Amino acid sequence: MTDTQTVSSTSSSGTASFGFRDIPREEKQGLVRGVFDRSARRYDLMNDVMSLGIHRVWKDITITRARPRPGEHLIDVAGGTGDLARAFIARSKRPGQAPATAIVADINEEMLRAGIKRGHADGIGWAVANAECLPFEDRSADCVMIGFGIRNVTDRAKALREMHRVLKPGGRFLCLEFSRPVSRAIANVYDLWSFNAIPQLGALIAKDRESYQYLVESIRRFPHQEAFAAELREAGFSQVAVTNLSGGIAALHTGRSVG
Ligand SMILES: C[S@@+](CC[C@H](N)C(=O)[O-])C[C@H]1O[C@@H](n2cnc3c(N)ncnc32)[C@H](O)[C@@H]1O
Repeated sequence: MTDTQTVSSTSSSGTASFGFRDIPREEKQGLVRGVFDRSARRYDLMNDVMSLGIHRVWKDITITRARPRPGEHLIDVAGGTGDLARAFIARSKRPGQAPATAIVADINEEMLRAGIKRGHADGIGWAVANAECLPFEDRSADCVMIGFGIRNVTDRAKALREMHRVLKPGGRFLCLEFSRPVSRAIANVYDLWSFNAIPQLGALIAKDRESYQYLVESIRRFPHQEAFAAELREAGFSQVAVTNLSGGIAALHTGRSVG
């Protein structure tokens, strides 16, 4: 990985990253939409195959850290097929109390449709929405999460400010995202798997090598753990903390709104 490949996905120069390419900013959203339009149908299966099921463990840790409680409201931004929202509601259940509710907000209708097709889930609403301009009231959520979504957003700073805006004072923010392996040995194995196996699995299972090539490249363009934590503080979050998962292949960033 070169230094130029590790720059942030947004820039003030009018360009944005799309995998290893720099493209005009206004083109990124459409290209990302194309990726998820094409991968929506096989999205859940590909997640399991590409991560060897480990994404389930990472999501489980995220939900544990979110500490869902009855009656709370979650906004799952870039929520796709709704894994995090479903788990949040399930984990909030206590005898005799109303469970949590959640909105899965995603820019891509095909991803939401794939989520709805997975079956009814009590307490979940689905909304087509851009993370950069959330159609929700200020201070309306007890918890905001974004799982493997922030990397795809064109204006990351704007999206982070939006997620801060919709959180109630004291509300919890959690961002699960691919990150930077903490050792050279892990990075080497991970690079081998992701640059070779993942695009091939994409071609074989989803008949779409290109989207999965974008996936592995976009991960390398995303800022490392500390740089992203600084972006969260810049957006207004307090008590920002980072937990590395699987040796930094993914990281869970958490923070709070102080209102
Ligand atoms: C890798 S999927 C993650 C889905 C889900 N959160 C999960 O963990 O399985 C990324 C999602 O981000 C969505 N997305 C990309 N750009 C977005 C934006 N600007 N606003 C909202 N959603 C966006 C995509 O449509 C896609 O569903």
